[in-house]
Amino acid sequence: MSEAPQKTFYLETFGCQMNAHDSEKVVGTLVSQGYRQVPTVEEASLVLYNTCSIRDKAEQKVFHRLADYKKLEAQGKKFGVLGCVAQQEGNKIFERAPHVSLVCGSASYRNLPQMLIQIEDGARRVTGLDDRATDECFETEFTARTNPHRGYITIIEGCDKFCSYCVVPFTRGKERSRTSLSVLAEARQMADLGYSEIQLLGQNVNSYRDPAGRKSFAELLLAVGEVQSIKRVRFTTSHPRDFGRDIVEAIDSSPALCDHVHLPVQSGSTRMLLAMQRLYTRDKYQECISWIKSARRDISITTDVIVGFPGETEADFEQTLSLLDEVHYDGVFAFKYSPRPNTPAIGLEDAIPDAEKSRRLNVLLERQRSIQKSRNQKHIEEHCEVMVEGKNEVRNQWIGRTSQNKTLNFTADSEARIQPGSYVPVRVTAAFPNSLVGELVGAVSAS
Ligand code: SAH
Ligand code: SF4
Ligand code: F3S
Repeated sequence: MSEAPQKTFYLETFGCQMNAHDSEKVVGTLVSQGYRQVPTVEEASLVLYNTCSIRDKAEQKVFHRLADYKKLEAQGKKFGVLGCVAQQEGNKIFERAPHVSLVCGSASYRNLPQMLIQIEDGARRVTGLDDRATDECFETEFTARTNPHRGYITIIEGCDKFCSYCVVPFTRGKERSRTSLSVLAEARQMADLGYSEIQLLGQNVNSYRDPAGRKSFAELLLAVGEVQSIKRVRFTTSHPRDFGRDIVEAIDSSPALCDHVHLPVQSGSTRMLLAMQRLYTRDKYQECISWIKSARRDISITTDVIVGFPGETEADFEQTLSLLDEVHYDGVFAFKYSPRPNTPAIGLEDAIPDAEKSRRLNVLLERQRSIQKSRNQKHIEEHCEVMVEGKNEVRNQWIGRTSQNKTLNFTADSEARIQPGSYVPVRVTAAFPNSLVGELVGAVSAS
């Protein structure tokens, strides 16, 4: 008797780290159901897209992908849309792309095994769409992490902030935290598997509330930092409204907590922050920055900015530029405002022309480039510990990451026993806006 052909799937992921990590869990779940992951659409019987809806371009990407591969439906392939576009558009996706047979938002992934069976049985339109009020989290023992040294742990899902431009509260539901016990159990399990770096994830990690009432977010950070053989703990994303001084104190007191805070500001103008419903002023944001800067450790600071939000004047934009000058960020992710369905700001006229948004974006990025260069030059001659990520064979350089989350490319003599995942000391010899260059210090044995 011949065996049934193995079920295969292809998964492409768009969007943020939450989506990247969800995909690791989805892959684990599918593998546990007897599926095998394949690297191309052509080889797959099931094609899945884990989608992002944060800006219009991100959303359009998935519809382009679906259109590109529509003809493959004739070969019996099944298509599924997961993630934020799935939750946002729901059943409308079937109208726009009739070859899709699965539409599933992130809060319903726990039901994927049953949904897969329905699809295998020939169901044409299977949906998993929770409403915002859902309490469900996607906790699974099957997580196919893609990196063997550093990995994500979700600590809080959803968002209750409702910034006026943002789809996330609609696509990911209300805030729900995992217990600190279950987070710590996962951290210990990862440590046992050889992981040395953990990144705690949530749309707003600072509003973490342990359902069992045991630990605040800062206490959870410290506890994860104490897990044996965990050398680095990162967390993202912070929100200025909920960011507490205790987080900075935790970083100061625990060597395992990395010297980096990502604190999205969105705008340097209090008037714009009000319109964006960010719930803080420029002064309040600056207070958080002053806590971070007064730490004993040299903590790098990165941010997100939106340019061209409705009503943003040249004077508002100038205030964002002046904030960059004052904070001296180590990195900025900047975006042109994109009107999004369901969001409060959709009612405001998106009157700033795209060319003007692009101009502001370029001015901002140019300004930030020189700030970053001067920030990075301060590291020259410093000795930094890096976690080795890989090697650029063409340049014969190792690629490392510092605790401050900067890329440090370095040379080492061929005798040095270096491999991805090792921690090695490197002397910084040169600086660019987006990376540092250095050389290995002393003899190193593999860790
Ligand atoms: N939870 C995080 C990040 C959310 S999404 C936070 O609160 O900061 C990541 C970034 O995308 C945001 O920080 C914001 O800068 C950007 N973004 C979100 N919605 C957007 C929109 N409608 N147009 C342009 N950029 C947007
Ligand atoms: Fe979106 Fe604001 Fe929530 Fe961040 S805090 S996910 S920007 S609504
Ligand atoms: Fe995108 Fe959803 Fe993340 S909209 S940024 S994938 S939470």
